[in-house]
This record gives sequence, C-alpha cells and structure tokens, in this order.
Amino acid sequence: MVSSDHLMPGEQGRIDAVVKTKGKKGRIRKTVAVFSNDPDRQTVTLSLVMNVIDPYHTQKFGAKAIFSSPCAECHVDRGKGKTGAALFNADCLICHRTGKPGKPFSDLKGMTQDDIRSATMSGIPGTIMPGFSWKEGGPLTSDDIDSIVRYIKRR
Ligand code: HEC
Ligand code: HEC
Repeated sequence: MVSSDHLMPGEQGRIDAVVKTKGKKGRIRKTVAVFSNDPDRQTVTLSLVMNVIDPYHTQKFGAKAIFSSPCAECHVDRGKGKTGAALFNADCLICHRTGKPGKPFSDLKGMTQDDIRSATMSGIPGTIMPGFSWKEGGPLTSDDIDSIVRYIKRR
C-alpha cells in the first residue's frame, strides 16, 4: 500500500508492507520493489530484514507440556478421533523422523510390540518423550496405543 501514487520532487510518501511469517523462523529477508518515472532511479529496491521469534519452542519445558494449552493444539489435538497411521502422523511424527530427537519410524519398527507399547504408555524419563496413556496424563486410551503399535509393526 502506498500513501500516494503521485509524489512531487522532494515530497515524501509512505509504503505499508505486510509480511506473512507463518512457518518461518529466525532471520528472514523480504524485498519491495518500487517503480517510478524518476529519470535517475526508476527502480528502488527496499530490503526488509527481520527476526521471527518462535513463541513456543524457545523456552525450556517438561515432556508433558505438549498435552496442555497452547502446545496441545498443534501437538495432540489433531490426533483426536484418529487411530493407527493417522494418529501416529498427528501425535508422533513431529519428533520421530530423521533429524528429530526421537528414533525414525524405521528404527521403531525394529522394536518389540511390548517395548513400543510400554514406551508409548509411560514415556522415556529424562527425555522429551512423554507417557501418552491417560494414567500419565496423556490423551491416548490403550486401544489408541494398540492401534499405533499395530501400525508400526505392520507397515
Ligand atoms: C503452532 C503449532 C505449535 C505449537 C502451539 C507448539 N508446537 Fe511444538 N512443534 C510444532 C511443529 C510443527 C514442530 C516440528 C518442527 C520441525 O519439524 O522443525 C514442533 C516441534 C516440537 C518439538 C520437537 C523438538 C524438535 O527438536 O523438533 C517439541 C519438543 C515441541 N514442539 C514442544 C512444544 C511445546 C512444549 C509447546 C508449547 C509450549 C509447543 N511445542 C507448541 C508446532 C507447534
Ligand atoms: C516431543 C517429542 C516426542 C513425541 C511427540 C513422541 N516421541 Fe517418542 N520419543 C521421543 C524421544 C526424544 C525419545 C527417546 C529417544 C529415542 O529412543 O527415540 C522417544 C522414544 C520413543 C520410543 C522408545 C524408543 C526406544 O529406543 O526405546 C518409542 C517406542 C516412542 N518414542 C514412540 C512414540 C509414539 C508412538 C509417539 C506418539 C504417540 C511418540 N513417541 C511421540 C520424542 C517424542
């Protein structure tokens, strides 16, 4: 948005720019190209450099934090009403894929059903892996957890 599309020599105007930061983190740069009939500089490129702060992931938190607001909205609420693969993708994949703190799916597959079930129910102390069972304050029933174990072992 420009305050005026007509500026006399020496006159000033204002340009409003809106940057969408969804999904962005850290230092980002955007440019705005301004075209005019100024004979010396027909194009001026304005550079906007900003630091996008992630309000959720910069602080220290306990493993169970993802079960309550505001974390739950992204971390576990999307799994509500789902089972098996869909539930795993909603609740687990964020941490269990290459480059993330939890073992990738292919490694989980190598575990026994009992080990997968008990880690999922009770969590792994000293890590950010929370116990997902109701007993631990998590969102999943034993049936939900069984559906994940079946998905991991079958695929
Ligand atoms: C707006 C959605 C959203 C909210 C709210 C949110 N997270 Fe996340 N979180 C994500 C996404 C997406 C990822 C995966 C990021 C990636 O893959 O780089 C993630 C990743 C994580 C991870 C994995 C760490 C890693 O190394 O990737 C942890 C732990 C985590 N979040 C904890 C929390 C906690 C605790 C809160 C609340 C204080 C929270 N999150 C709030 C979306 C969210
Ligand atoms: C906030 C991140 C996070 C989320 C969400 C998460 N995990 Fe984990 N998980 C970890 C970490 C970290 C470990 C410990 C490192 C490892 O062994 O992979 C772990 C360990 C495990 C283990 C034990 C691996 C072993 O070697 O003993 C299993 C099984 C497991 N997670 C399954 C799941 C399932 C199923 C879900 C979804 C219901 C889930 N995890 C969600 C981070 C997470």
